Amino acid sequence: MVATTEFILSEVKNGVLVITINRPDKLNALNKQTIEELHDTLVEAENMNDINAVILTGAGQKAFVAGADIAEFANFSVEQGKQLSSIGHFKIFNFIENYSKPIIAAVNGFALGGGLELAMACHIRVVSDNAKMGLPEVSLGVIPGYGGTQRLAHLVGKGKAFEMIVTADMINAVDALKWGLANYVTTQDELLAKCFEITSKIATKSPTAIRTAIKVINAGYNNNLNGYEVEIEEFGKSFGTGDFKEGVAAFLEKRKPSFRGN
Ligand code: COA
Repeated sequence: MVATTEFILSEVKNGVLVITINRPDKLNALNKQTIEELHDTLVEAENMNDINAVILTGAGQKAFVAGADIAEFANFSVEQGKQLSSIGHFKIFNFIENYSKPIIAAVNGFALGGGLELAMACHIRVVSDNAKMGLPEVSLGVIPGYGGTQRLAHLVGKGKAFEMIVTADMINAVDALKWGLANYVTTQDELLAKCFEITSKIATKSPTAIRTAIKVINAGYNNNLNGYEVEIEEFGKSFGTGDFKEGVAAFLEKRKPSFRGN
């Protein structure tokens, strides 16, 4: 049982934690409290063996998340601005990217600024056909501060990232799919079903190997690490896991594996 809090709804369905950011009257904008609650929810779920994936979405029909809460940071100083960014990276954006279970963003409407950055920190993005995605920060005289300058280029390439950031343009779901920002586009009604289709595949696989794969893929985007070397190391370690023994035994015995995540 994962706790539901003021701005975060949590529900576990078929081994999947569905997290809904719940500030629909503010288009689910990320204020400090929402960031804290989302962090605490993810921390709580991380060691629960009966949860093998997370789906993250926004409440209502209109928005996934319309960005950081502009009203909250309106009077911030330089130092407070820096803190806002670094706490966000630590508690949510890097935290999600390095989470040990796959996190799918179910983008059900506007994903702007911190909202797009949140979706981009997730491992997979499924986007509804009404979604609008963009990094409009330069319209406010700031830049993306939750990893957007880095992760957008990783996903869509440097040229499109420059264009989206300096024009502040929003793109639609079709372009998001074409450019690699969305893995799939569905209707709003089909959005969660598509996410569950993906998590149902994840559920049959080795949690230990999935955790390691997330770590190694991310290592390739970390300037301080050599992804290939991390891969060699982690590939070797896989041979010492219970899931490896079970997976190989199941294959040789022509049965389905029963992974324990060890
Ligand atoms: N921070 C704080 N409040 C926000 C918000 C944000 N990022 N985005 C939307 N809201 C609030 C609005 O202030 C409004 O609150 P109110 O009813 O108390 O006035 C409410 O959410 C509804 O938004 P509204 O602007 O009335 O909806 P709309 O349909 O006219 O426009 C958007 C939708 C997404 C285009 C518009 O809300 C917007 O541009 N939001 C800011 C996006 C942004 O710049 N994000 C990056 C922040 S760094």
